[in-house]
Amino acid sequence: MKQGGAIRVIFITGASSGIGEALARHYAAPGRIIGLVGRREDALRAVAEQCRMRGASVVCFPADVRDAVAIQGAASVFLTQAGGIDLVIANAGISRRDDECPGNAGIPREVMATNFLGAVQTLMPFVPAMEDAGSGSLVAISSVAGVRGLPNAGAYCASKAALNIWMESLRVRLRGRVHVMTVCPGFVATAMTASNPFPMPWLLTSDQAATRLELPLEFRLPRITYNGRHLGGEDDQDPEAGIHG
Ligand SMILES: NC(=O)c1ccc[n+]([C@@H]2O[C@H](COP(=O)([O-])OP(=O)(O)OC[C@H]3O[C@@H](n4cnc5c(N)ncnc54)[C@H](OP(=O)(O)O)[C@@H]3O)[C@@H](O)[C@H]2O)c1
Repeated sequence: MKQGGAIRVIFITGASSGIGEALARHYAAPGRIIGLVGRREDALRAVAEQCRMRGASVVCFPADVRDAVAIQGAASVFLTQAGGIDLVIANAGISRRDDECPGNAGIPREVMATNFLGAVQTLMPFVPAMEDAGSGSLVAISSVAGVRGLPNAGAYCASKAALNIWMESLRVRLRGRVHVMTVCPGFVATAMTASNPFPMPWLLTSDQAATRLELPLEFRLPRITYNGRHLGGEDDQDPEAGIHG
């Protein structure tokens, strides 16, 4: 049975490129209000313009998801301006190779601050409004990389594993009131994967990746994995291959 309500007000982080940009375009339509977050203001405003051409009302928030105060402020302004919230997509993320900074923990700190804490800081400010309304969807763009510790991608994999577990816990806490969905894509052709030196099987375009959220959102699924096999078993992934994305 379909359970999803109409989606009118949407907040997306990492909307200045890649999957986030594709999601913004995908949801842009007359009657919709979309909040867009990213650090590169020019790129964000270019995406906003595309969304407006499709009939959506758009509010841009040039901000860093690692800055809890900035994101809380953006969420608060957006909630007031839009008069509610239906869908939040914590999509902003980075991928760094573990050997970029040998000898210190700079890479894990940066990756966890963005991919894990940044997502948490994006979703939390919207929880009270959604709980009060008894509706809405909180979505985190995680990755199939969150299932195993892959070579030279320990920080990235750990950040997505942490996000998966945190979302699982949030889902239980908000069960019956707010929909909480973890999205685990495989390889998607974006700036993040453009310089990967290894083959990327089942590569999707960012538009395909964005479109694949639609039905799971409508049916309020808890977790989806797409593009590539579910990495649950021993033989599902060659750990020597490495993965960034
Ligand atoms: N591409 C893949 O194969 C793949 C696979 C699985 C999961 N994912 C996940 O999908 C999400 C989107 O990645 P993508 O592939 O679309 O990469 P992308 O094209 O590099 O986009 C990343 C987005 O995140 C934003 N961002 C990064 N750090 C940020 C920060 N501190 N504050 C605010 N925004 C920030 C970037 O905007 P600014 O630079 O303007 O801030 C950009 O809009 C990520 O969470 C990634 O881990 C990607």
